[in-house]
Amino acid sequence: MEPGMEPYRVKSVEEIPFLTAKERKDAILKADFNPYRMLASNITIDLITDSGFSAMSTKQWSAMMLGDESYAGSASFERYQSAVQDITGYKYVLPAHQGRACEKVLFNALVTEGSVIVNNNHYDSTKTNISLNKGIALDIAMVTDDTADFPGNMDIDKLKKVLEEKGEEIPLVMITVTNNKMRGQPVSMANIKAASYVCKAHGIPFILDGCRFAENSWFIKEREDGYGDMTPREIAKEMFSYADGCMISAKKDANSTMGGVLAMNSEDLYDQCVPYVIATEGHTTYGGLSGRDLEAVAVGLYEVLDESYLRYRRANLKFFEEELISQGVPGVFPAGGHAIYLNANKLCPKIPADEFPGLTFAGLLYIESGVRCLDIGSFSPNASDLIRLAVPRRVYTTEHLKYVARMIARVAEKNKDRETGLTMTRSRTKSAQYKHVTGS
Ligand code: F0G
Repeated sequence: MEPGMEPYRVKSVEEIPFLTAKERKDAILKADFNPYRMLASNITIDLITDSGFSAMSTKQWSAMMLGDESYAGSASFERYQSAVQDITGYKYVLPAHQGRACEKVLFNALVTEGSVIVNNNHYDSTKTNISLNKGIALDIAMVTDDTADFPGNMDIDKLKKVLEEKGEEIPLVMITVTNNKMRGQPVSMANIKAASYVCKAHGIPFILDGCRFAENSWFIKEREDGYGDMTPREIAKEMFSYADGCMISAKKDANSTMGGVLAMNSEDLYDQCVPYVIATEGHTTYGGLSGRDLEAVAVGLYEVLDESYLRYRRANLKFFEEELISQGVPGVFPAGGHAIYLNANKLCPKIPADEFPGLTFAGLLYIESGVRCLDIGSFSPNASDLIRLAVPRRVYTTEHLKYVARMIARVAEKNKDRETGLTMTRSRTKSAQYKHVTGS
């Protein structure tokens, strides 16, 4: 099979809106240039996230019809639990409504004031859930460039050092695969294994943030010695085997619109988490999800490990990357698993750094094309000039991505000498508002 050929055919379609340039300009002004404040009904191609926006399969939709909505002991939970156990190898399974709910439960159980949680890189909600429990999130990713095979890796020397110095204050160590905050770059099996050994030597639980575990498995298959002949499922199982448990946002690598997985080997840890699931998510056999959501996750967890799907997913992103490169668009290449990152400082080099070049470019791109993307800078101070184009799973075809690449190149060309960006008129992350610095 051609790697880039979709391993599925279209059975149901959803129209996408095409607005006029004037309508788009009005729409973005109304949203005060904040991508989160825009109406989805005004977006032609939506690359704001890869989360909860996957196209579900006929098997998922039909499984949803079997959803057992019983309050306790539902058959849907049995199927969800068995899929999680089968794929991860962990014995104890708790559902939660999404990834951050798993984080809340786990950190409520383990984090106290002054606790230090170590990770290659914490995702934003992970960091917030740690700080809400008065803990400290410590990022120790390896400093490397994106041409390395596994730029998402953790710095194992730093891990050893921090566990020696602060071991008492560390209730758990995490590793995030792929590493979203490191541009979705993968983590090697060797790195996961090494981190696992260090944690074991210190008796500290090691938990995988496996939101994109299947994509990470594919990178290991492609790039790491000894894994080329293994199936993604075998690779994923090995990855999970080095950790004591995992959190998965099923909105990513389970191709579901909603859902989370918290799984572990330790009965003690399970017992510690249960009251927090019950208090805020629901009974342990639904955990914030309807029976039909549990069914979609149970099927999606297998589908996302399917070799032809993963080969296609990788080829789809690679195609997008190559289109951008061929049009001379400055980005972070080679790209990671779920998104392409563009470099706003190079796209619009004359816009001052404090005038949000990334957000300005995102706004201009929307006005030109109806494409929504996200500038990382306004929300993550460490990446002030990056724009993320996240690609949802099974949603957009190569023609869609070709269009996006062409529009980006066009906007870049038109704005290479632009000298003004945006100014913030109202702060507060996702409700922030901006206007053009000149007021126009
Ligand atoms: N961990 C990682 C690595 C993530 O990327 C996300 C979400 C979460 C945890 C939280 O999961 O959304 O189900 O609560 N990332 C999305 C994104 C939202 O756009 O990158 P959630």
